[in-house]
Formats: sequence, structure tokens, C-alpha cells
Amino acid sequence: MRAKIKNFLNKKNKKKIVCLTSYSKSLSRILDKYCDLILVGDSLANVLYGMKTTHNLKLDTMINHAKSVTLGAKKSLVVVDMPKNSYNNPKQALINAKKVLKKTRCDAIKIENNLYNLNVVKALTNSKINVMGHIGYTPQFKKKFKVEGRSKTEEHKLLRQAKKIEKAGAFSIVLECISKMTAKKITDSLKIPTIGIGSSNYCDGQILVTDDMLGLSGFYPKFVKKYANLEKVIDQSVKKFNKEVKSSRFPKKKNSF
Ligand code: KIV
Repeated sequence: MRAKIKNFLNKKNKKKIVCLTSYSKSLSRILDKYCDLILVGDSLANVLYGMKTTHNLKLDTMINHAKSVTLGAKKSLVVVDMPKNSYNNPKQALINAKKVLKKTRCDAIKIENNLYNLNVVKALTNSKINVMGHIGYTPQFKKKFKVEGRSKTEEHKLLRQAKKIEKAGAFSIVLECISKMTAKKITDSLKIPTIGIGSSNYCDGQILVTDDMLGLSGFYPKFVKKYANLEKVIDQSVKKFNKEVKSSRFPKKKNSF
């Protein structure tokens, strides 16, 4: 097992795991200093391409962004999301995951789990591909947003699903918008780290979409904390540029040859 994955697994029960998304080299260069894991999430469909869902994202689009991200990330584990319909069966998943790994030099891939794709996880891990699972609210498969795990039935279902994904060989699982007590039960029951988004502090680590936490995406649900207001910073900078160009205060002598 590669050292980066081993290091990541060793953090369970010792240190909280820090994860964020990135779609580019410039951002991943900064994140790399502070993150254990950088996810090239298919959220880029919404965040960058303005699509309503992640459903029509192409594998090649993910590959192009992942290539950029791996150029900037030296120490963090880089995980690439497989877009919807790129892992419909074990054979297709293997071909596409190998393509992603070869072209991007990432460390692992992530798939969203439903009740029918455990065979995909097994096929990938049997081929020594590092797989991150994803349960709870999975935008590729769920039509409507809902917090999951609030009832005993849902709790049992999610716990069983998480255990099966672990048994199939995944090295970690994202828990998205799962209730606090269910997230705790899953985290306590698994040997592999759980990474939460909207799933409370009872996870081994946390992930957010970076554009959300930097105040750039305009999407701020309850589980997002805005650590900056980049929209404001960019607005003010561009406004100043506009003024200076119009008034010939930019460029100055020092900006010219
Ligand atoms: O696509 C993404 O960014 C994700 C995270 C929200 C976990 O899957």
C-alpha cells in the first residue's frame, strides 16, 4: 500500500483529517500545505460549469481538472471523483478508473455508492485501485436533498452499507448530510476513516467545497462555514482596476517596459 494512503489510514482515532476540494493547480498549491486530502469533486459541474446537476459531466472534464490539481499537490492525497455513468458496471469502472489514474497520476478515485454498486468497489480494489466511498446524500443518485439517518431504519441501512463498503476494500468513506448519531455509529464501527460533509463532528475528518467556504460560490447551506468573503475581495479589486484603467492610473511606469 502506498505510503500516502497508509499515512491517511493511520490518522484514524489519532488526528482529525483535513480535506477540501480543488479543480486547479493554483488552488491545490495552497491547499496542499494544510490538507491531508484534496478531492477533485464532481461538484465542479455546479461550481465551475454552472450545470444544475452533476449528471452530465464527462470523464475527460474530470481528467483535465485532475491533471491541473496533481501539478499543484505534492504531499496531499489526491482523489478524483468518477462522474455519473462512468462506473455503471465493474468492467466499465475498471477501464475508466485506470484511465483516470494513468492520465492524472492521482492517488485514488471516489465513487458515490448506491445499493447496487458494491461489485464496482470490489472490482476496483481487487485491481489494487484505492477507492473512497460516498454515502448519505449522493447527488448522482438522489433526486431531492434530504438529511439521512434520522430514523432507526435509515440508521441501520446506512451502517450496513458503510460496513459493506469497508469490507469491499475502500480506504475511506465520505458521509454526506447524515445525522449526528448515525455518523457517530458509522465512524465508531469502521476501521477506515469517515470524512464528513454536513455530518457533524462525529467523523474522522471533514471536507467542504472550497469555493463555498471561501465565499465564492454563492451556495451557503447550514453545514458550510464561510471562512472568507472572496466574492467581496474580487468585487473590490475588479472595481478598482476598472477605475484605474479608465482614469489612466494603470499601468504606471513600473508596470511598463
Ligand atoms: O463533488 C464533491 O465536491 C464532493 C464533496 C462534496 C464530498 O463529492
